[in-house]
Amino acid sequence: MTEDPKRLGGPEPLLDVRGLSVTYPSATGESAAVLDATLRVAAGEQVALVGESGSGKTSLAMAVAGFLPASARVTAETLSFAGTALDRAGGAGVPHRTPGMAVVFQDAMTSLDPVWSVGSQLRAVIRSATRCSRSEATDAARSWLVRVGLTDTRRVLRSRPYELSGGMRQRAMLALALAAGPRLLIADEPTSALDASLSRAVMELLRDLAAETGTSLLIVSHDIRLCQEFSDRMIVMYRGAIVDEGPSAQLEATATHDYTRGLLRCVPDLDARHADRLPTLDSVRTETAALAGRGVA
Ligand SMILES: Nc1ncnc2c1ncn2[C@@H]1O[C@H](COP(=O)(O)OP(=O)(O)OP(=O)(O)O)[C@@H](O)[C@H]1O
Ligand SMILES: [Mg+2]
Repeated sequence: MTEDPKRLGGPEPLLDVRGLSVTYPSATGESAAVLDATLRVAAGEQVALVGESGSGKTSLAMAVAGFLPASARVTAETLSFAGTALDRAGGAGVPHRTPGMAVVFQDAMTSLDPVWSVGSQLRAVIRSATRCSRSEATDAARSWLVRVGLTDTRRVLRSRPYELSGGMRQRAMLALALAAGPRLLIADEPTSALDASLSRAVMELLRDLAAETGTSLLIVSHDIRLCQEFSDRMIVMYRGAIVDEGPSAQLEATATHDYTRGLLRCVPDLDARHADRLPTLDSVRTETAALAGRGVA
């Protein structure tokens, strides 16, 4: 891959990663999960990091976020965020928050505190970001919940995470992440615990809110088609290395690596050939009515 500063997040990217490697201890010594990765994310850009399971996506994203286990070894030629070098070398010990960066994980249940209500958690984030009063924080929390589509704010604010559905929890996580006013939001498989239509809805929400707030996105996913639709640029990982990157809409045309082409080819395409055989809502309703008429519940 040749380096083109415009394609790689511009000349002064918000996130600048060059030559980043991550290794974990293994029975035979050390095993490399990320090898010499270079990626950049511009301010306001929405970038997706895709690849098969085990390709190193989470290791790369968490090395950037500072959330790797202490046993992981991170080396990088450059690792800077908003012009400041990030220290992730040699297993940074206890994970710590990087100002201006927020992270959303696959399963909100593991990242939301199970003991505290959504309202307390949201208020705490808002107050630590803005130092406002408790009632101002409650108003802001309500408005964030509405923005992420949780309109029954009274109930949601009082609920503990386990009292919400998976989709509601993921939306609450987005509210928490964005309420802190991050410049970069790293989302690791934010929708893989959700069904297909909820996944699309959450991705749409993520894209729209990030655009509205000017937040850059680094979305980690194995769903190449979903990412193609909801990101500006895609980065493809294979066996720990970045093998392709380019504008999402043109990835078919710009892919240089066989793995990327294979990945794009193997996604089922609901083309016109079989469209007439797919059930429509009307056909399902007609069939249900016919069954009900025959006494089948
Ligand atoms: N804490 C860890 N200790 C040791 N090895 C690890 C650890 N975390 C990840 N690995 C290894 O690093 C490699 C990359 O894993 P990683 O989780 O980064 O992949 P991924 O692309 O995010 O996969 P998935 O799509 O399944 O989430 C894998 O071989 C994995 O076994
Ligand atoms: Mg992962």
